[in-house]
Amino acid sequence: MKAKIILPILLTVSSALGQSADNLYQEHCSHCHGAKFQGGNAQSLIDGIWQFGDSAGHISRNIKFGITHLGMPAYEKSLTDPQIKSLVNYLFEAEKQAGAATPPSPTSLQTQDYDIDVEIWAEGLDIPWNLAFLDDKLALITERPGRLRIMRNGTLNPKPVEGSPSVVAEGQGGLLAVAFDPDYREKGNQWIYLAFSHGLEKKAGEKRAPAMTKVVRGRIRNNRWIDEQTLFEARHEEYRTTRVHFGTRIVFDAGNNLYFSIGDRGTGDDAQDLSKPNGKMHRIRRDGSIPNDNPFVQTEGALPSIFSYGHRNPQGISVHPTTGQIWAAEHGPLGGDELNLVEAGKNYGWPVITYGKNYNGTTITEVVRKEGMEQPAWYWKPSTAVCGIGFYSGNLFPKWNNKLLVGALKYEDVRVLDIEKDRVMHEEMILKNAGRVRDVACGPDGALYIVLNSPDTILRLTPKEQ
Ligand code: HEC
Repeated sequence: MKAKIILPILLTVSSALGQSADNLYQEHCSHCHGAKFQGGNAQSLIDGIWQFGDSAGHISRNIKFGITHLGMPAYEKSLTDPQIKSLVNYLFEAEKQAGAATPPSPTSLQTQDYDIDVEIWAEGLDIPWNLAFLDDKLALITERPGRLRIMRNGTLNPKPVEGSPSVVAEGQGGLLAVAFDPDYREKGNQWIYLAFSHGLEKKAGEKRAPAMTKVVRGRIRNNRWIDEQTLFEARHEEYRTTRVHFGTRIVFDAGNNLYFSIGDRGTGDDAQDLSKPNGKMHRIRRDGSIPNDNPFVQTEGALPSIFSYGHRNPQGISVHPTTGQIWAAEHGPLGGDELNLVEAGKNYGWPVITYGKNYNGTTITEVVRKEGMEQPAWYWKPSTAVCGIGFYSGNLFPKWNNKLLVGALKYEDVRVLDIEKDRVMHEEMILKNAGRVRDVACGPDGALYIVLNSPDTILRLTPKEQ
């Protein structure tokens, strides 16, 4: 009874607030964030990406105190707290509506090489992040809020794996990468690898608990995570309170070395500092020890796990099926998303060289090339918010063998890149506007799997019968 009476009152109040919030927004915010929140001189506020924290508290503080070094003004003096609060609710409402407007998943696609059937393979997930296949029967899915899910014979176990590591699920942080050991089955070691945002205890005086990317392995028995071993944990003084740029995926090379990335954690300069773990690609053995041919093992003061540096936030890593090259896609600043062929000891330039600009349009640097720093193999301008990548190697789409699938969050698309040696020769968009693309994978059955956020589903693509 009560609810029925209260609801209309609430609606009236919120729409009254909404109206004034709209006026406030149009007056103070629209010239940078766009009249319809879509972005322009600053980022979109409805793309689901809250780099500086997605809670009402974080967003209010970002409006009140600004992010002034990046061009987001402080509104402390011009807006009251209730006005800021109404703006935050207004943004959440706008974001929800934008999400609700997501079109239903397509049932078929046409590409240059194939006509494709699309089906929903998994749903009922919460921010699925990474999909790993063992074989055509078993797959694991991470959900960023901190759950590990088992997909067996095409059916999602409704219960998440119990006892998986606890994660800092704030901003871009959470449970991120998952991978099966290369000898999971053959030698039966059954190791499963996870990378996630690990938080320390919050100390007195700290606003938030410091966090950093951590890598562990463990096994799953009876839907329970057991036998956990820590493989990589940064020195705790390197942990940072930001909630952005954690990386990562987990891949193995032919020698079974494990690669993962840590984004710059919001401190670009650290990417050039070999004593810091952030802004790097790392290479460790499966037990966490350091391969003795790592490039910086002899360099004084350098972290021996570092494989390459000068990275901003690589969230896509894939190994070329025939050459074994390691390719990585990273989020750049506005206009600076990159694809790199990652090689031992090389410097990929962030933040000294970049094709990107600050989100407010101001220049980070005019320098796009420098001696001793690598050029990207490809870059996307404007930034698509490039995320998971995966080489195709299967029977269903033979023309795509050894081509690279690239997913994008903001542009909500999947592209197929034709790569020869170290160069990208051609790019074709094969899927657009079905949702934010978090991950792409070639399944053991040769089908293409696309992990989407909003809607939180996984699509399965197969060629139509000719
Ligand atoms: C002069 C341009 C400008 C104006 C005006 C402006 N912003 Fe921003 N805003 C920015 C920039 C630039 C950033 C992001 C910095 C970055 O991403 O590097 C930002 C970031 C933000 C963020 C953080 C987004 C995230 O990903 O966490 C929020 C929230 C935000 N703005 C809200 C507002 C609101 C609300 C208003 C109006 C009251 C407003 N902004 C007005 C430039 C502006």
